[in-house]
Amino acid sequence: AEPEPMKIMISGPPASGKGTQCELIKKKYGLVHIAAGDLLRAEIGAGTENGKRAKEYMEKGMLVPSEIVVMMVKERLLQPDAQEKGWLLDGYPRSLSQATALEDLRIQPDLFILLDVSEEILIERVVGRRLDPVTGKIYHLKYSPPENEEIAARLTQRFDDTEEKVKLRLKTHHQNVEDVLSTYKDVIFKVNGDAPIEGVFAEIDKALSSILDKKSRTDSAS
Ligand code: AP5
Repeated sequence: AEPEPMKIMISGPPASGKGTQCELIKKKYGLVHIAAGDLLRAEIGAGTENGKRAKEYMEKGMLVPSEIVVMMVKERLLQPDAQEKGWLLDGYPRSLSQATALEDLRIQPDLFILLDVSEEILIERVVGRRLDPVTGKIYHLKYSPPENEEIAARLTQRFDDTEEKVKLRLKTHHQNVEDVLSTYKDVIFKVNGDAPIEGVFAEIDKALSSILDKKSRTDSAS
């Protein structure tokens, strides 16, 4: 039988590199990437009531109320693709109540990756970040520039990517992170996220392949 698929959470302050690492993890391990922020931006884009409410909080760098976020993530997580291939939960849970909601469903990660990045670096990353609306790819003007002029010309910026707003997002992160970490203390894997993209991924890659290894050994033993 196939070994159980991997279940991974990734957390870290705003612009610490969660989305960037998720792209690399997804490419190598085929996990289904579920990003709370992306789900919320999709609601905003679709012009739904939930999207409108969510945007008011996101503009202030605050957590969107749980009654909007919890159902949205839960529904995505329970879809067949995520159950079959395994999942990579990005930016969720971000509060004790969100963590508790998952515990109640007996949803637990094999690993909780925490990207640790210093504050000056975060601000530089936010201000230089750009997104390609066509491919969804994340760029940085200095660290990960677009491949050609055509892409460069269509890049967009997120509405909450200003120095002022990232400070508010960072404050929200500091207020909530300890509660979440205490829930997952047995599976936390802290990575130095100040390093270049490939270096950060190398650390994560090692941890994930060892989990996969363990899972396949347990499986063949049973
Ligand atoms: P969300 O979209 O999750 O934003 P965030 O946590 O602030 O994280 P980011 O997406 O900004 O950054 P990232 O860590 O993915 O970094 P990236 O890889 O892009 O949430 C937005 C809002 O939604 C929240 O403020 C909140 O209001 C709401 N929300 C979300 N989840 C919620 C929840 N669970 N509950 C309630 N509300 C919720 O990288 C950043 C830049 O740096 C890029 O330009 C990249 O190219 C560059 N870069 C990345 N890694 C490196 C590296 N190693 N070296 C150099 N450059 C790098």
